[in-house]
Amino acid sequence: MQLPLPSSEIPLLDQEERPCYLDSAATTLKPRTVIDRIARFYAEENAPVHRGVYELSQRATDLYEQARKTVAEFVGADVESLIFTKGTTEGLNLMARAWAEEKLKAGDEIVISAQEHHSNFTPWQEMARRTGATLHFAPLNANGTLDLEGALALIGNRTKLVAMSHVSNVLGIENPVREVFAEAKRVGAVTVLDAAQAVPTRPVDVNDLGCDALAFSAHKMLGPTGIGALAVNPNLLDQMSAYQTGGGMIERVAVDGTTYLDGAARYDAGTPNAAGAVGFAAACDYLDAVDYEGQSGMEAVAAYEHNWGQHAVEQVAGIEGIRMLGPPEGHPPEGGIVALQLDGIHPHDLAVLLDAQNVMVRAGHHCTMPLHAHLSSGGDFPETSLRASAYIYNTLTDAGRLADALKFAREALTRTTVA
Ligand SMILES: Cc1ncc(COP(=O)(O)O)c(C=O)c1O
Repeated sequence: MQLPLPSSEIPLLDQEERPCYLDSAATTLKPRTVIDRIARFYAEENAPVHRGVYELSQRATDLYEQARKTVAEFVGADVESLIFTKGTTEGLNLMARAWAEEKLKAGDEIVISAQEHHSNFTPWQEMARRTGATLHFAPLNANGTLDLEGALALIGNRTKLVAMSHVSNVLGIENPVREVFAEAKRVGAVTVLDAAQAVPTRPVDVNDLGCDALAFSAHKMLGPTGIGALAVNPNLLDQMSAYQTGGGMIERVAVDGTTYLDGAARYDAGTPNAAGAVGFAAACDYLDAVDYEGQSGMEAVAAYEHNWGQHAVEQVAGIEGIRMLGPPEGHPPEGGIVALQLDGIHPHDLAVLLDAQNVMVRAGHHCTMPLHAHLSSGGDFPETSLRASAYIYNTLTDAGRLADALKFAREALTRTTVA
């Protein structure tokens, strides 16, 4: 399938007046293929997994485990240690509860940065509170990008965990995670990667980045909500405790004590989201099969997103009164995220006027209050912004629609009436 995907592939876009949906960093729209695959599971294959001896249940179990293999391969992970979660947030909380809460103690140090999405911020803040470990924030440059030297200097012998996002959901650019994680590994710390924005937009190989755990969500990559994955280094998985207990993850339960299964199976407490897993795998297969300018799969997605971002920034950055947050000053766009503020206009007002033009964007802090506080310090800026984020169904015309809608909204909101 050539990029951009045609509207006919995406039911929500397949309307007489095609909506300009630019909130894909929050959640992507879904192709018919993925929707149909989930519907087929419920219509023809639905049964509890890992629980029945009858054929329908065996088949559902095979599909669930095949989905685990597909998702693991998508990020180069070991299938035995690919845990299905509800999404990135649950994956990061799982690492906090199943590893950090057990292993950390007063005197230990956790390193993150103020650029993080709240999902990769609050779990570590909470773990510091519970264990007595100290939470350190790697310094940021004025434009919100990581100060690499400062980050490396912060990692020392007391550092036990370093958690970082691969791609910022506001700045839209990659953090130098390889360098940071290499230093963390040198001092023996565990490394956790929030890959919520990375896995959907570029090729990601868990072994290439030096992370012990990598979390991502299906719904940001054409898949269903309510499912995600956490790929964990098998050696680390052996040291982790159960996150939730109950049916499905036990080896033997008795009144004198219970033992649990090993590996990823220890994290499958309760009836798993099999339809979600099958839909997740369908989304991975779909992404593997797209093409753009001689490239295929995630290389094609990355190239397309990059091109869209360049086009959008060219059209938007010159609008009077615009302050670009993403891509940050001095950085070319790396993907399809454009975050901005318009002088004197609240992003919510702007977003409402854009919606009236059928252009859907996000306004607010985008779950990054500390980053917005940092970006607004030292200036008369609001602690919120407007974010437009594209995916592989957005056309270059959508970038133009965004720019036109912004110009129109700016004009409407700054117009002075003459009596
Ligand atoms: C960078 C980043 N991390 C984590 C998350 C949380 O993902 P989810 O809500 O799917 O758990 C998001 C979602 O916007 C994100 O952009």
